[in-house]
Amino acid sequence: MNYRFPLIEKLPPYVFAVINHLKMEARRSGEDIIDLGMGNPDLATPDPIVEKLIEASRNARNHRYSASRGIPNLRQEISRWYERRYNVNLDPEHETIVTIGAKEGFSHLVLALVEPGDKVIVPDPSYPIHSFAATIAGCELIKLPIDNGPEEMMEELRNLEFPKSEQPKILVLSFPHNPTTVCVEKSFFEEAVALAKERGYLIIHDMAYADLVFDGYKAPSILEVPGAKEVAVEMYSLSKSYSMAGWRVGFCVGNKQVIAALTRLKSYLDYGIFQPIQIASIIALRDCDHIVPEIVEVYRKRRDVLIKGLASAGWSVPSPKGTMFVWAAIPEQFKKMGSLEFAKNLITNAGVAVSPGIGFGHRGEGFVRFALVENEQRISQAMRGIKSFLND
Ligand SMILES: Cc1ncc(COP(=O)(O)O)c(C=O)c1O
Repeated sequence: MNYRFPLIEKLPPYVFAVINHLKMEARRSGEDIIDLGMGNPDLATPDPIVEKLIEASRNARNHRYSASRGIPNLRQEISRWYERRYNVNLDPEHETIVTIGAKEGFSHLVLALVEPGDKVIVPDPSYPIHSFAATIAGCELIKLPIDNGPEEMMEELRNLEFPKSEQPKILVLSFPHNPTTVCVEKSFFEEAVALAKERGYLIIHDMAYADLVFDGYKAPSILEVPGAKEVAVEMYSLSKSYSMAGWRVGFCVGNKQVIAALTRLKSYLDYGIFQPIQIASIIALRDCDHIVPEIVEVYRKRRDVLIKGLASAGWSVPSPKGTMFVWAAIPEQFKKMGSLEFAKNLITNAGVAVSPGIGFGHRGEGFVRFALVENEQRISQAMRGIKSFLND
């Protein structure tokens, strides 16, 4: 029997799988490949968080199913964290929900809010689930170019006009942006919120990289815009700021109706994150403000080593103000081969794995993304490899 699964047919194998396969093959044959491909943080979770997990794991009361929407004390801490950082007031009961990482939260949120056929506006290029969540939910994708910066993006958004009955349901935003590293000021969100109110769509803002910012830049929360809660929710992840990627903790806050929809859907789908992880996450949000800048400093130093190394290889790339990535236009002489072929070349000839831009959408073609997930020495080594490849 040859079964057909139409939904799965709409989900092409990750372009990144091709690169991964090549990387594994090279490693199996004994080559040292420096992996700057996936944005998988390599730093250890801070001790106080790990200690709390160990302590809470010893308590049998924490071994049962937990609360799908997150335990009340964690939701309370989320609302305190917002108050402290952004001066935004959130009702922990109705305006917060804990998710199994931002990725799970985002994909189920889209599913909770749409009907098949609805339009969803997504930046191109984008973090893959930002567009594939809409595909999985049977929606029509409206691509919004982001690569020319926030002003042009806003201009394009304003020009995206539809008849009243065919308005998009959701606008997806995410700043600091993966993969382009584009950052915005609060005025961008003010305009986006005004537009959403005028046109009747909801905004989901994914701020997974809110803390990974450099050179004095501070990333705004969309909820700082007065009245944003009428049209917006915001997602956050503990993966990057607290080096907790494997723990799978994130949250979504903002518009009550939207939070209620996600809460309902998730109550059917999961029993909540392992309770000791939720308890340890309270420690992260409550007691680890001072550790985040140390983590950010590690990424900043890596960024500088990478940008300097590329420059000395004759590859000039702008230094990002945010995220844990560097988004680099492929050098002119290699542009024609495309980002996948170029990324393959970097593995084979420079011993460096990167993500090909095409994996993030059509407008990502012509670029590769470096993730700052190896230490400075390894990044220097990678840059030496790239230098000798480019100048061969
Ligand atoms: C924009 C963005 N959102 C969310 C995530 C995933 O976050 P989490 O680990 O909380 O699922 C990533 C990870 O790379 C990301 O780039």
